[in-house]
Amino acid sequence: MKSFEEVYEVVKNTLSEKRFRHSEKVMERCVEFAKLYDEDVEKARLVGIAHDIAKEIPKAKRVEEAEKDGVILNEFEKQHTSLIHAKHGAVICEKRFGFSEDMCDAISFHSTAKAGMSKLDKILYLADFCEEDRTFVESKKAYEIGKENLDEAYLYALSENIKFMLEERRQLDIASIDAYNDMLK
Ligand SMILES: [Fe+2]
Ligand SMILES: [Fe+2]
Repeated sequence: MKSFEEVYEVVKNTLSEKRFRHSEKVMERCVEFAKLYDEDVEKARLVGIAHDIAKEIPKAKRVEEAEKDGVILNEFEKQHTSLIHAKHGAVICEKRFGFSEDMCDAISFHSTAKAGMSKLDKILYLADFCEEDRTFVESKKAYEIGKENLDEAYLYALSENIKFMLEERRQLDIASIDAYNDMLK
């Protein structure tokens, strides 16, 4: 696997300044939660910095580029192309940096979540929701809960994301519903 320094440089050279700052902020939260919840700090740091590596691929090229890299997209993802960067990012991190399967899994599901999220998956999902620059009150609350209870904070972030989609009358990825049901069973 590539060193943190190498990954950091590639991400920095790939993303805009704004998105790179977001990535750094997500990384900081990932490290914090990994320490709190006894997760591998290096893995958390790497998935944090790299999670949005595919985010700035232009809309018109997202499907084509992802498929070229061997990403298998479902119909829903082809229609909601903002989701593609998660799975595509995971494949890029595997091929380019040699990220392990559990790290790629966290990146794959940082947007939609899924049933059976691992600790690392939850940490990245939560960190993305409550990084320091997010200004909405729910993100602050998620962070506060996150300092006490990872599962509760993850479920809170997931619920808020779903609520937002409902309020906006946007379609929901079935993986998010599965994730929600899974946490309440
Ligand atoms: Fe993302
Ligand atoms: Fe992100």
